[in-house]
Amino acid sequence: MRALAGVNVTIHRGEFIALVGANGSGKSTLARLCNGLLLPTEGTVRVAGRLTTEAGALAEIRRQVGVVWQDPDSQLVGATLEEDVAFGPANLGLAPAEIDVRVDQALRLVGLEGLRGRPVNSLSGGQKQLLAIAGVLAMAPDVLILDEATAMLHPAGREQVLGLAQRLALGQTMAVVVVTHHMDEAMAASRVIAMDTGRVVFDGPPTRLLAAGHLLDRIGLAEPPLVNIARGLREAGVDVPLIWRRVEDLAEHLCRLL
Ligand SMILES: Nc1ncnc2c1ncn2[C@@H]1O[C@H](COP(=O)(O)OP(=O)(O)O)[C@@H](O)[C@H]1O
Ligand SMILES: [Mg+2]
Repeated sequence: MRALAGVNVTIHRGEFIALVGANGSGKSTLARLCNGLLLPTEGTVRVAGRLTTEAGALAEIRRQVGVVWQDPDSQLVGATLEEDVAFGPANLGLAPAEIDVRVDQALRLVGLEGLRGRPVNSLSGGQKQLLAIAGVLAMAPDVLILDEATAMLHPAGREQVLGLAQRLALGQTMAVVVVTHHMDEAMAASRVIAMDTGRVVFDGPPTRLLAAGHLLDRIGLAEPPLVNIARGLREAGVDVPLIWRRVEDLAEHLCRLL
């Protein structure tokens, strides 16, 4: 049984990608292949031109492709926030002053700069998730993959992480891949890659995926509730765009039509 088959994707700096698919469709397998945690038994994976199977390439590839997993506790290593974020850069052999700058910048990016000296175990689940992201950012990755990393967060925390992911991609210094089975999290992406039983069944902008008939249904993903409402309104003859991320915006649009 193959976990992945016929997958052929290339991603570039500045792209904000949602990798979607039902549970077991192969998303995490693809993430593991991208940073060399898993090596392909067939086919190839290249990061900045280098094969993940190339002798001696893995340490650099793991720095280039940072992955944050669903469970932050499994990736936090330091006693304090500062120690935790410093762990990766210290392993790269950076000078203390440079490590300090990286820690500062990474904590600032995720909004935890005020808690720098605090113990990690005093953080909430959502804060731990942000800290795990900071730890990866401190490595200055070229690709940031968040594998269901918003799963433990409340809606505001999810919005915060997705907003951060989008800003990081817009900064053009890295590609950001948000792995999720919630289609509403894919709406802000510039490109959606959808997987079904180990294959890529769609690669394109979110509007096109939503317009693609019953594809979502077929691969076991639910249409975002707001899109579902907008679709119903359109079928009833109301002139509204199909894609909405915030209920406030849809409500405002409808009010203007009255
Ligand atoms: N190393 C592996 N070798 C073979 N099959 C695997 C391996 N890891 C996961 N799988 C299988 O691949 C499929 C995809 O798993 P996974 O990538 O975790 O899916 P997702 O992240 O989309 O939920 C599952 O059926 C899983 O059991
Ligand atoms: Mg997974």
